[in-house]
Amino acid sequence: MTPDIQCKIQDEAGGIEVISATIDALVSRRSAPADDGQVVDIGGFAISADAGDVLERVANALSPKASIEVGCASALSTLYICRGRLTSGALGENSVHVMDPKQTTHWKNIGRRSLDRAGLLNRTVKLYEEPAHVALPRLLAEGTRMQFAFIDGWHMLDYVMVEAFYCDMMMDIGGVIALHDLWMPGLQAFAAFWCTNRHYEPVRLQAAGLTSYLPDSSKPIRQDLVSAFPPFNERIAPFVEEGILLLRKTSDDDRRWDAFHEFNYRPSIT
Ligand SMILES: C[S@@+](CC[C@H](N)C(=O)[O-])C[C@H]1O[C@@H](n2cnc3c(N)ncnc32)[C@H](O)[C@@H]1O
Repeated sequence: MTPDIQCKIQDEAGGIEVISATIDALVSRRSAPADDGQVVDIGGFAISADAGDVLERVANALSPKASIEVGCASALSTLYICRGRLTSGALGENSVHVMDPKQTTHWKNIGRRSLDRAGLLNRTVKLYEEPAHVALPRLLAEGTRMQFAFIDGWHMLDYVMVEAFYCDMMMDIGGVIALHDLWMPGLQAFAAFWCTNRHYEPVRLQAAGLTSYLPDSSKPIRQDLVSAFPPFNERIAPFVEEGILLLRKTSDDDRRWDAFHEFNYRPSIT
């Protein structure tokens, strides 16, 4: 570990201890302080501690130089990702790009305040108060490269598709797009399309890092993960952990101009 990183880990603002204290406060209270002096109940929308643990371990395993997050809300997911990156020794200045158009208007800055409390805001985390479809093309035009993206914004097929499209353009090979709430049909349709038409593979965490080997197939798939898309049910759902799907980029896009692979193919039953 370099002296700089050692210093950052121990450093009070933006260091492990203060990030952990901020996470613990949000998780134990399931609420977050807002601008108006009130507290906002975050139980219905913030990621769970178990999902946060998945994100933290992925961020740690990937050790990305830069990451992007769509949908800040309470910033609990951001804090887990930052802690995972920090313990891997890779949390550079301004290297966490987070976007949320409603941070002030709807969320009364609960996420901004938590990031500030953890000493991350405007230091390592850049928070863009605009929709991802506005912020992402600008980051691309600025030449941003990254290795990890977490998409947890407006959970509709067209929004997620646009967000993943731009994230891919900035994503290095070997990088991962993580998606949340895979019980939602729009997310399931996206994953079925993306894994059959783009060079991405589902992966999961194991002790040594990320693996694309299918997990134990004898384990039944959760009922809320059974979708209208056979490729999703057979090859993708088994990888979902705590509602999170990890998709690893294996190659740049090299499709012919007219390429299309069916992603809702149902084999005929004989
Ligand atoms: C489910 S919440 C995210 C929860 C967050 N991961 C957490 O741990 O608190 C979804 C967030 O996406 C934001 N959002 C909605 N539309 C968006 C868009 N077009 N681009 C980026 N974020 C968006 C919402 O304002 C909301 O904060």
